[in-house]
Amino acid sequence: MVAVREGWRGLVEPIFEDLGPAQVSGILPRGGTIIGTSRTNPFKLEAVDKVLQNFSDRGLDALVAIGGEDTLGVAARLYAEHQLPVVGVPKTIDNDLSGTDYTFGFDTAVSIATEAIDRLHTTAESHNRVMVVEVMGRHTGWIAVMSGIAGGADVILVPEIPLDFEEVAEAIRKRHAHGKNFSIVVVSEGCELPGLADAEERDQFGHVILSKRGVGDALGREIEQRTGYETRVTVLGHVQRGGSPTARDRLLATRFGLKAADLALGGEFGQMAALQGDDVVAVPLAEATAELKVVPREWYDVARAFFG
Ligand code: F6P
Repeated sequence: MVAVREGWRGLVEPIFEDLGPAQVSGILPRGGTIIGTSRTNPFKLEAVDKVLQNFSDRGLDALVAIGGEDTLGVAARLYAEHQLPVVGVPKTIDNDLSGTDYTFGFDTAVSIATEAIDRLHTTAESHNRVMVVEVMGRHTGWIAVMSGIAGGADVILVPEIPLDFEEVAEAIRKRHAHGKNFSIVVVSEGCELPGLADAEERDQFGHVILSKRGVGDALGREIEQRTGYETRVTVLGHVQRGGSPTARDRLLATRFGLKAADLALGGEFGQMAALQGDDVVAVPLAEATAELKVVPREWYDVARAFFG
């Protein structure tokens, strides 16, 4: 077995290294990836031929692609258009892949964001402030909605369900009128806010670098102006993607890994390991990457019940 280093870059260049029991020993409690990652897109680089050539030159029988919509979107196309024998494993903190209830990494990110919200309550309460927390999640609000509910946020903003500044300000004013003199607002980095331009820099998948848009700062400024309450902003950033994974993520990753091995050994290519209910099943990569899994209204309504 070999590791293809740094995602698709490892097949474009190529960069392979041995991957056996010695290499994986002790990695269960480690976050991140020991084989590295990149945002390389072979389709954008017009390097698909290189990928196919390097795969066959190395004499590989199967490829296990581990990642989110970008990595697995490339895997789906390589399978559909070039019959590359690939299976997928859903790994992203964003939890935005279709066909699976959860992706691994997400639970860890939600736990970290929830702990951050708990800690921000201290300053919010002591200093009578509004604390805005910007969390990751790209174009879906899964991290925001789940950590916001778990952390008891007073307002949560997600890309799927736009709120205008006045609604946010009003929820905070109402809360203060009821005798609470602090508020916690969780905002997902991908929210569209009036007057906020997109950052110009894009990665090879065409995504703007969302952390450069400054959603949290823009929202914090508006809240302070509209309510007159002192407001501070925390951007959690890559803290959410780091450290040791939760037990739930370790279990999920372990089960997905076994499923991917079974799929590869059984020659069931073009499939992705997925969690549906408590079962790990196979779903077509094409289906998993066809569209983003967005936060449904029902989830947001759970959060909304506690606004203000
Ligand atoms: O897709 C995972 C993710 O962490 C997103 O939530 C975030 O927008 C993006 O990656 C950040 O990417 P980078 O580490 O390249 O800045």
